[in-house]
Amino acid sequence: PRILILGAPGAGKGTQSAKITEEFDVDHITTGDALRGNKDMDISDMDTEYDTPREYMDRGELVPDAVVNAIVEEALSQADGFVLDGYPRNLEQAEELEGMTDLDLALMLDVGEEELVDRLTGRRVCSECGTNYHVEYDQPEEEGVCDECGGELIQRDDDTEETVRERLEVYHENTEPVIEHYEEQGDLERVDGERAPDEVWEDVKATIEDAA
Ligand code: AP5
Ligand code: ZN
Repeated sequence: PRILILGAPGAGKGTQSAKITEEFDVDHITTGDALRGNKDMDISDMDTEYDTPREYMDRGELVPDAVVNAIVEEALSQADGFVLDGYPRNLEQAEELEGMTDLDLALMLDVGEEELVDRLTGRRVCSECGTNYHVEYDQPEEEGVCDECGGELIQRDDDTEETVRERLEVYHENTEPVIEHYEEQGDLERVDGERAPDEVWEDVKATIEDAA
């Protein structure tokens, strides 16, 4: 299947996408991870305000469309089935995506604002394998150490309270219109994301199976 996963920062897109890739054998295409792996890439020849993705990301702002569109186009050209996570984040990107591929399903994870802030400021990620933890809700066996690979757990540069607030602002202003766009097209399936990860997964899985 070709799945789009939508939701605010911290809604659980990464968490659910990992389960989707495993269950449905599709590629996980995530602009956030792709950009984090290329944070210091020189984009100054693209006529951008700043010279690297890092400067946008650490402020909680969107990286310019030209950079992100190129990442997604390249990844989609190599994928058969996929779950696309973190894109599109504004209407221009949504229009771009329509020229690149068809979708079987757009899935929206609904989570309230307070819970989002709580999840993001408490998130810790493995510096080696990227597995997500949370200081209260999802602790590793040994503090600061990844259960999966023994890697060190760190806080993402954009998970400070100030940057989290900015990311949520950007989401309301730029990405909510994208959600409305898919809703108006009648292509959007909403899942209540404010429950335990396994309960959310039950619904996500059933929704994908129904769409197939
Ligand atoms: P990106 O990496 O995409 O970040 P995001 O959208 O802010 O999403 P997150 O990864 O923070 O959250 P998530 O929804 O995946 O939740 P997760 O599963 O991790 O983007 C980062 C930056 O890159 C952007 O700010 C921008 O600068 C740039 N960028 C990316 N794409 C772009 C684009 N298209 N255009 C322009 N710029 C772009 O879960 C969060 C936490 O909650 C974890 O700790 C997890 O353990 C916990 N958790 C998950 N599910 C549950 C649950 N059900 N109950 C309790 N806790 C849970
Ligand atoms: Zn790890």
